[in-house]
Amino acid sequence: MSIADFNPAAEIRGGVLFFDGVSTVELAERYGTPLYVVSETAVRGRCAAVRSAFLAKYPNTAAVYASKAFQTLDMCRIVAEEGLGLDVVSGGELYAALKAGVDPATIIFHGNAKSADELDYAVRSDVGRIVSDNLFEIAELERLGALHGKKVRVLYRVTPGVDSHTHRFISTGSLDSKFGIPLDPSVRDDYMRAVLDAPHLDFSGFHFHIGSQLHDNFSHLAALRIVLALVADVAKAYGYVTPELNLGGGFGIRYLPGEPALDPGYFVDPMMDLILAACGEAGIPMPRVTIEPGRWIIGEAGITLYTVRSVKTIPGIRTYVGVDGGMADNIRPALYEAQYHALLANKAGAASPAASAALVTVVGKCCETGDVLIRDIALPDPRPGDTLAVFSTGAYNHSMASNYNRIPRPAVVLTRAGTHRLSVRRETYEDLVARECCNSRAP
Ligand code: LLP
Repeated sequence: MSIADFNPAAEIRGGVLFFDGVSTVELAERYGTPLYVVSETAVRGRCAAVRSAFLAKYPNTAAVYASKAFQTLDMCRIVAEEGLGLDVVSGGELYAALKAGVDPATIIFHGNAKSADELDYAVRSDVGRIVSDNLFEIAELERLGALHGKKVRVLYRVTPGVDSHTHRFISTGSLDSKFGIPLDPSVRDDYMRAVLDAPHLDFSGFHFHIGSQLHDNFSHLAALRIVLALVADVAKAYGYVTPELNLGGGFGIRYLPGEPALDPGYFVDPMMDLILAACGEAGIPMPRVTIEPGRWIIGEAGITLYTVRSVKTIPGIRTYVGVDGGMADNIRPALYEAQYHALLANKAGAASPAASAALVTVVGKCCETGDVLIRDIALPDPRPGDTLAVFSTGAYNHSMASNYNRIPRPAVVLTRAGTHRLSVRRETYEDLVARECCNSRAP
């Protein structure tokens, strides 16, 4: 499989990896490493694919980008320009979205434990929808609606009780989950009455999100069946006609060569068929349908560049290739046993590394044995100074980065068809102590 088959933005020219038409070796030299590189071309391409497979194909639909996957001001602006709304999960994400100029009406505010300040901020900012899953929040939103003289549009996040086929840490739809309202009828009734009786709330329907990085549509369909039964039930029990359904995100991407490339249509087409059929059967109008892809929009559009700093062979055991980043910029291998594909960007022409190269283990620079980025990958004769490019790091890398070991967080560079520009500057040592209030020095 050629690298372009694995990632269409990647290409090898003269032995060097180019990404979105830009030499990654040049990017590493120019901006330093570790470096997050995001292809604006690829992001816009993904948004266009969502438009054609969903928004243009089905009337009365919306797509919002789950910005927790990767949120920068540029990213907010790009997805808004591409016609997607934004899903935010905190006051901080909301602040950045508004600062980037995102229309609040297109914002959906999520979270299982929003603070009173966050709710107030969301209501004052006129965000389009607030997704709630607890009665405290419903009472608080009713109070805020009355206080600010607004009608607050609310959806309920429900727990369909479906186990999704993904890592248990990123599965969210099973019964035993901190997210969502259990659909047990005894519980459901309290929730329905609370929201329907609140004069300052406009109850718009139901949301579910069952997990992330899903490679089949079974769990989405199983969850949807349960939620459609709920829609039919509440129509009967309360005369409530559900105006909106939000199907969440979770569409899987490729991390390794050989994994399937899934289109949004693979997930949304059978779901739309199911909704249409169920509404026909129950004699209720088709609701507005929203999807919330995060990883699918940004994951494959991002790569991370590192510089190899050490190569150490333990005879008969393994060779460790140490790079200048690691779990501080990509916590996913340590947290979820996530696997990544990589190549040496300056030796990308080396004939089929699988045939000519030994397997090595790529480790980061944190003081932590578990700081392993890639276990057992074929790299052609890695040497200090080489540039390592790790693929599919666009989602949940930058947004989950930390300053563990006081390592400054990497810069973000945006590429667009052969051009590049700095989008987020690298953190400085000064940034690392900027919030500290200590004003004396050690003697
Ligand atoms: N909507 C809601 C309500 C969500 O909770 C999420 C993700 C999404 C949409 C977007 O899901 P996506 O399309 O990106 O799969 N840190 C983990 C992923 C956590 C996902 C949390 N919720 C990881 O690195 O795999």
